[in-house]
Amino acid sequence: MKKRWILCSIFLFLFSIIKAPSLSQAAVYRISGEDRYETANLLAEQFQWTDNAVVVSGSSYADALAAGPYAANIGGTIFLAQENRDLTEVLEKYKVKNVIIIGGDKAVPQSIEDRFKENFEVFRIAGKDRYETSKLVNEQTESSPITVGLATGRDFPDALSAGVFLARQGHGLHLVDGQRDYTLPEGFEGVYTFGGTASMIRSRGTRIEGRNRYETAANIAAASGDYNAVVVASGENFPDALAVTPFAANIKAPIVLTGKGSLSPEGKAAIEKAENVYIIGGTNAVSQRVEDEILGKAPAEPEPPAEPKPPVPEKPVPVTKNGITTIDGIIIANKKYSLPSSYNPGLSQNVKDYFNRMQRDGAAQGHRISIGSGFRSYSYQKSLYESYVRRYGRAYADRISAKPGHSEHQTGLAIDIKGTSYYLNQNFASTKAGIWLAENAHRYGFILRYPKGKEKVTGYIFEPWHFRYVGTNLAPKIYKSGKTVEEYYGL
Ligand code: DAL
Ligand code: ZN
Repeated sequence: MKKRWILCSIFLFLFSIIKAPSLSQAAVYRISGEDRYETANLLAEQFQWTDNAVVVSGSSYADALAAGPYAANIGGTIFLAQENRDLTEVLEKYKVKNVIIIGGDKAVPQSIEDRFKENFEVFRIAGKDRYETSKLVNEQTESSPITVGLATGRDFPDALSAGVFLARQGHGLHLVDGQRDYTLPEGFEGVYTFGGTASMIRSRGTRIEGRNRYETAANIAAASGDYNAVVVASGENFPDALAVTPFAANIKAPIVLTGKGSLSPEGKAAIEKAENVYIIGGTNAVSQRVEDEILGKAPAEPEPPAEPKPPVPEKPVPVTKNGITTIDGIIIANKKYSLPSSYNPGLSQNVKDYFNRMQRDGAAQGHRISIGSGFRSYSYQKSLYESYVRRYGRAYADRISAKPGHSEHQTGLAIDIKGTSYYLNQNFASTKAGIWLAENAHRYGFILRYPKGKEKVTGYIFEPWHFRYVGTNLAPKIYKSGKTVEEYYGL
């Protein structure tokens, strides 16, 4: 195998000197064995010797991904285990002393562990699932706090590109179910989050994302600083790239992901900066067409026609009809705009439906919420406001309560939400339920209407309990803008 790798490198090196300049003017190598197991062995050949062999299953990606930065950080390399394939001879070639198995015995069977024990010190790290396994792997570090980058464990591409980046900075890769609101284990600090909000709804540290896996990988490469080599791997199939992280970290090469058909423009740009390009896996993983493209043989993909620029939407303006003001399709009730005293729609069905969904999803994550106050009629708002005036005086009452006609509750589209410990109390903002709501309500069409520090704009003190339904199309936009409704529409 070794011979093959060296021959292959020399051949390609010479070849690249005499042939037409490649995309990157780079030497292009392909590291590819008969199968994923042999590809891993070829990657290991880049290490003359290593004390530590990290052994993972070759049939799923999760354990291998968490193992990547760990193996790189302990100067080890990754081997893939398979029943009936004895790795002893391969490991002895590298003078391995310790074998660290990552994953339970369904992933790496006990019989393999027993065989290793005859020749090496063996240590197994296995949690009940991929998430716990990644946690246990990261706990092997002695640094405190344990700094990690976070990526979803539901798919491999972001975690694969992230692994080398993290390994080079001495951080671990912690896999989470990014579609849920995860908590970090004690002693962990999240320094990076990889992927967009679709795969990681919650970020910790710096988020590195792109419109897709290819752009995310390219953005991770761009954040890696200088490099003169890149590793090109499939963004569609994981097997060949399972063992690549220690190799890539060792040559300080970021990962460029590619589809089978052709390189993405971002991938191309990342490759153009490199002097050496290592393609990982056979043509089933990274096609000859992609290799030719890197070598400058294939005509570059025609640039996709520029997307026609969407017409600049006209700025919505408030329209008042029959005493009701709307802007961009939503009813406005605030200090400036009021509703007629006869307006009596009751609590909107959408509010009920979307609140129920939010309540159910919140409960699944341990947050119990309910509606404390929903629709209010004009006369009810009047009695409420007057009771505040009696209790606190008019000046303070005006900061916490709308005058009759001006309350959002009269639209039937606003609710005050109760947790289990606080209601109508700013401490609600620091409860788990309050935090979850603030970060997720927009996904159900609700926005936190009177945010902290915006009293000058809204006229009301911070109300972490008051949510206004504006629909699932608009709410994420307003949420992401970080603006209040008044600021968003210039009201
Ligand atoms: N507490 C809010 C401002 C209301 O009275 O509608
Ligand atoms: Zn309210």
